[in-house]
Amino acid sequence: MTKAKIAVLVSGGGTNLQALIDAERAGKIKSGEIVLVVSNSAAAYALERAKNAGIESLCLTRKDCGGQEKFEEKLIEALDARGIDLVILAGFMSILSETFTGHYPKRIINIHPALIPSFCGKGYYGLKVHEAALSYGVKVTGATVHYVNEIPDGGEIILQKAVNIRPGDTPEILQRRVMEQAEWKLLPRAAELVCRRLVKEKGKTI
Ligand code: GRF
Repeated sequence: MTKAKIAVLVSGGGTNLQALIDAERAGKIKSGEIVLVVSNSAAAYALERAKNAGIESLCLTRKDCGGQEKFEEKLIEALDARGIDLVILAGFMSILSETFTGHYPKRIINIHPALIPSFCGKGYYGLKVHEAALSYGVKVTGATVHYVNEIPDGGEIILQKAVNIRPGDTPEILQRRVMEQAEWKLLPRAAELVCRRLVKEKGKTI
């Protein structure tokens, strides 16, 4: 396997997906290639970004599949049919059970917009993370890329980057700064690190 095959799971605007696409194009992700984007929302602009980049995309919703179990079954089917090596959650807002995470041990990564273990776990996603950081009054926040296991935001940490909070920050201003200064830099770097490991490991299993 010269390159690991990457699937990116999205739900919204897809700015993290775009950072991955741009990084791959700029040669910053040498050990992997994004071959599939899966959204759990038909309205996700991330699907538009995939189309513009010529990347295959699928839309799978729990509702259309008839519940969480069927949704995960179809998702695993789609990923395995394409020989996916690494699953990247990029703004993906849907729970994934132990059945799913157990299928890809240390082959699912997620970007969380805070410095885990702060402001993470159940209920901490999107703007809520930044609202919590501002209401607590922390002076520094940031982003974390971690492996995904059955505990929400509980997997081994891969990379982190700190971002200063400024007087007068609103959740929206802070979210943007964390995206620009941390998320969009960390996720491509983590993708390359994990793909390099996977390519090496696959090289060994003759
Ligand atoms: C943002 O809150 C980001 O911090 C988190 O997911 C949300 C949407 O990101 N990682 P994206 O623009 O869809 O990548």
